[in-house]
Amino acid sequence: MEKKRLMYDFSQAASREETNAEKYTLRERLFGTVDVEPVWVADMDINTPDFVLKSVKQRLEHPIVGYEEVPHSAYKAQAEWLQRRHGLSVSLEDMFHSHSVVASMSVIIEAFSEEGDEVIVQTPVYPPFFHSVTEHGRKLLKNSLIQNSEGKYVFDIDRLKVMITPKTKLLLLCSPHNPVGRVWSREELEEIANICYKNNIVVFSDEIHSDIVYAGKKHTPFAMVSQKAAEISLSAFGVGKTFNMAGFAMSSVVVQNPLLKEKFEKVYKRVHFAGGNALSHVAFERAYKEGDLWLEELKIHLWNNYETLCELSEEYKELIQIIPLEATYLAWLDCRGMELKDKELRDFFVEEAKLGLNAGISFGREGSGFMRLNFAVSSAKMSLIIERLRNALETLRNKRGKH
Ligand SMILES: Cc1ncc(COP(=O)(O)O)c(C=O)c1O
Repeated sequence: MEKKRLMYDFSQAASREETNAEKYTLRERLFGTVDVEPVWVADMDINTPDFVLKSVKQRLEHPIVGYEEVPHSAYKAQAEWLQRRHGLSVSLEDMFHSHSVVASMSVIIEAFSEEGDEVIVQTPVYPPFFHSVTEHGRKLLKNSLIQNSEGKYVFDIDRLKVMITPKTKLLLLCSPHNPVGRVWSREELEEIANICYKNNIVVFSDEIHSDIVYAGKKHTPFAMVSQKAAEISLSAFGVGKTFNMAGFAMSSVVVQNPLLKEKFEKVYKRVHFAGGNALSHVAFERAYKEGDLWLEELKIHLWNNYETLCELSEEYKELIQIIPLEATYLAWLDCRGMELKDKELRDFFVEEAKLGLNAGISFGREGSGFMRLNFAVSSAKMSLIIERLRNALETLRNKRGKH
């Protein structure tokens, strides 16, 4: 099929080697070599939109960058985005800015649980969901996601119901889910909401990936699922993933129930988030005001990359299969067909493919035999990744004599 012509060009991207991009600076420590193409941490090797950068350059025309408040207009731009794109109505008084969703999660853990209390996470999941809980002295209750007969990951509702005790105070939801790429349906979220409501459990819904959802799927903000869901939850939304501007470090927490808001605000103030970064304020506002078309085109580009990856895995399906993706730019690769132990699997990607991926096991024991690959790269880099992966898979296939 002929590819749609885009207004924005994602065929090339600037090199980040000479910047302090974590993806590059941590290569040697993580993979033992700099000779790997990094496809791990969840930011994109795609240029941050020009209109965002321009807003910062304009702001710097004023020669003083002192303490500044988040302007009303920035929160308004985000609220309008949430309404326009997700149908969620938010009052500006219910929004709190944060430099990090993970930091917001820590505030919420402190605000809604005590040491020794239990916090539920659904694994495999983004690793800070574990650390944030245990480092605050709370007990982690892991409810493994299960794969249904079509290989789709779903919540284990029966287990969830029986694992709750009077000490269970909080459930951390990743929606859409990193790393399995699910967009939870309204019905699935409603089940979670009903169970948590019944058991007085507060839900923190991390919706940082909610803008990168592909055709045919629709993100449902947890707070929109029902009145009960809105009452028991706090949600996080941000520009970091959507517009590749994690370095601006700005997101927000939305909390609608006044009782939850009061508790949250107490810890939020104690930690002192203050006014945040003046340059991020303008970047955040501009992204939300002008980003619709860029995002739509980005998603077309990302989906093309994903399809290329799927075509390759189809050729080598006895070795590698891709879990069907509904959201995010993180492919969850089922590599169990390679019959390698987790360390060998990581070494295979580093040594044979010269690619630095996240080991599936780092997302929980359910990730054993899996790897996570970030395909948010330019078309030029995607071709390189595919070539390296193909060569490595071909070598492995030949070694196994499996063809
Ligand atoms: C689910 C999820 N939450 C939070 C983050 C990080 O957010 P922040 O950089 O705002 O702390 C990530 C980054 O990969 C993520 O995948």
